[in-house]
Amino acid sequence: MHTIGSWLQLPPADYPYLRALAHDQVFTQELLPSTSQLALSDSATGQLQAYFRELVQERRRAPGNDPVSGWLRTWDALAADREAADEAVYLLALLVFLAAPETTSTMLSTMVWLLLEHPRQFGWLRAHPDHVPDAVEEVLRYDSPNHIISRVAPEDTMLAGVPIEKDRMVHLMIGAANHDPRHHLDPGVFDIRRKAAHLSFSSGIHYCLGAPLARLEATTLLTALLGRLPGLQVSAPPVWAPRVGFRRITELRVVPS
Ligand code: HEM
Repeated sequence: MHTIGSWLQLPPADYPYLRALAHDQVFTQELLPSTSQLALSDSATGQLQAYFRELVQERRRAPGNDPVSGWLRTWDALAADREAADEAVYLLALLVFLAAPETTSTMLSTMVWLLLEHPRQFGWLRAHPDHVPDAVEEVLRYDSPNHIISRVAPEDTMLAGVPIEKDRMVHLMIGAANHDPRHHLDPGVFDIRRKAAHLSFSSGIHYCLGAPLARLEATTLLTALLGRLPGLQVSAPPVWAPRVGFRRITELRVVPS
């Protein structure tokens, strides 16, 4: 929240409010959300829409040296329609915000949990910190923060030999792909040295815009953790939110040594 909030130059006092809305909003992207989860998500989406529309208007009134003001300047230089610019920039700011904190915070807690669960690998990493980026990739492969990418078929099509009718929704299961034994030897084994490619940031034209930032956050956290809390241990099993699409540890209790 802090990373994305400071990049977009949002007031830090708003972070707790925005974080709570981001948590509630994800249910629209769940596989089988309940009615009450969807209601929660609708309400969060409405509040986030209002927040980011207001943000764009604020940056219009007082442009600064921040990405939202920069996107407005770029758009204005390309086309005269200010309303269209405001709408496009609002959607971009909202998308960037929604895509960032839930996925990244989940990855950070899963990473800590997985490495503490594998103390030999955690210890090896301490002696070989240059392999921290490999560990981050293996965390992303082994337990991706986001397990579902959904698409609607624009026309009748065949996907890997399966006929898909026009307008049908297809869910791509990232976790299953990352554990496909045809691509990964012993996929159920967590091995920070395997250097395997994964689909956790998707692929193709919609490849995650924030992948370098997420990787930077994870390598920064892990490097600091190895240096400052080398004896860290899990003191109780983690608590998981009962979700499929966006995996999330809600509680991970640790002790320093
Ligand atoms: C570990 C953290 C992250 C994971 C696992 C992740 C995962 C993904 C995935 C799977 C997609 C593709 C969705 C689709 O095709 O429907 C995506 C797209 C996107 N991500 Fe991330 N993301 C992460 C962090 C971030 C961060 C930090 C940002 C912003 C700074 C971000 C911004 C975006 C944006 C804007 C898109 C849409 C790209 C497009 O459609 O062209 N993501 N992300």
